[in-house]
Amino acid sequence: MRITTFDFEEHGDERGILISLEENLNIPFTIRRCYFMYNLMPGVRRGYHAHKTLRQVLVCVRGSCRILLDDGTEQATVLLDRPNLGLYITADTWREMYDFSEDAVLMVLADQLYDESDYIRNYDAFLDYLKKKNAEGKQA
Ligand code: TYD
Repeated sequence: MRITTFDFEEHGDERGILISLEENLNIPFTIRRCYFMYNLMPGVRRGYHAHKTLRQVLVCVRGSCRILLDDGTEQATVLLDRPNLGLYITADTWREMYDFSEDAVLMVLADQLYDESDYIRNYDAFLDYLKKKNAEGKQA
């Protein structure tokens, strides 16, 4: 499956490094929400959902974690281990986040406000959803 990552430009000098994320520039959508997770317990795995329409960019701004992506046919794993790396996740992609380092802070930028009705939280329901969508697409 195709994985899209971004290498954000670092503005570094003797004082340190600054990264700027801007909607419709280095982030490919209008940013309507930002959330982040931290204090992640050892061995925890979260996510376990797909979105019907939401687009997101994940940035592990501290520490590291792994993201499993699944488009219903193929799976891929991405290691997020530097704050200048962004992972773009579009709709119809199952994701799981795991292998968080103790200090991990995973930040997510999203193009929509939180909306539970956009979630598919069951893997079999996700596969059914894709199958139906695919069949409808072929009819159109
Ligand atoms: P949850 O969907 O379980 O997180 P994950 O994607 O890591 O599995 O979200 C945890 C809780 O936070 C849940 O009660 C919903 C809430 N939440 C919000 O209120 N706003 C948000 O933007 C997000 C992503 C979650």
